[in-house]
Amino acid sequence: MDKSLFFTPEELDRMPVHVAAIMDGNGRWAQSRGLPRVAGHKEGSETFRRAAEFMNDIGVKYFTVYAFSTENWKRPLEEVNAIMGLLEKYLNEAIDSMAEKNIRLRFFGDTSVLPQRLRKLIERTDAISVGQTGLCVNVCLNYGGRQEIARAAALAAEALADGKIDEITADNLSDYMYSAGVPDPELIIRTGNEQRLSNFLLWQCAYSEFYVSDKMWPDIREEDLAMAIKSFMGRKRRFGGL
Ligand code: IPE
Ligand code: IPE
Ligand code: MG
Repeated sequence: MDKSLFFTPEELDRMPVHVAAIMDGNGRWAQSRGLPRVAGHKEGSETFRRAAEFMNDIGVKYFTVYAFSTENWKRPLEEVNAIMGLLEKYLNEAIDSMAEKNIRLRFFGDTSVLPQRLRKLIERTDAISVGQTGLCVNVCLNYGGRQEIARAAALAAEALADGKIDEITADNLSDYMYSAGVPDPELIIRTGNEQRLSNFLLWQCAYSEFYVSDKMWPDIREEDLAMAIKSFMGRKRRFGGL
């Protein structure tokens, strides 16, 4: 992909380091075409693959995506199973292409309760990913922001009791999040025209810029992602200052 098709050299110098996406609207995309919701998830997984390659090509360092929330278990079993099956298929394919493109895959969330085949694949992907130095894709899977904060608080309390830290602060609590060591996302994109976080990256998004697209996730193309990033570049971030 030729990145100069989307960005000027000056823009390429100001690329955000970390972009996150709430990939929403798969079900509506399918339903508006008279297709089962699962067809939307299938198309959406293809969009995800392309989006990750785009982020890699334009020099973004971290791309964090919401694939399955702790609340998504409330959906019909058939849909949940179909999503798990698609994740498995995606990982199987990604394992080969990842190495070639130097993309690293990580997982945020409680993966211990996922179907065993998927868990095994996640372990394999993790192991293969270690040496990759290109884009790092963080896949939020059985992920909830509140659950992540509660888990971090418990881990920090343990460290405090063990004398490994002297106090719990806003700074060191970050070290116990799934995202430890990853800078906060500058930009969070949500598709599907919903204006909410739905329990995504609650801790990390304190000063993230938010961009909502009215397109459904499977309709998202490179130019839509570029538009979101350009919108971010045009904003003035103050972080509470003047
Ligand atoms: C997002 O699309 C994907 C997941 C939550 C797994 P949805 O399935 O939420 O699609 P809509 O919002 O119902 O259209
Ligand atoms: C958020 O979308 C979760 C993912 C995209 C994985 P949802 O569709 O689950 O969010 P709500 O229910 O509209 O808030
Ligand atoms: Mg949705």
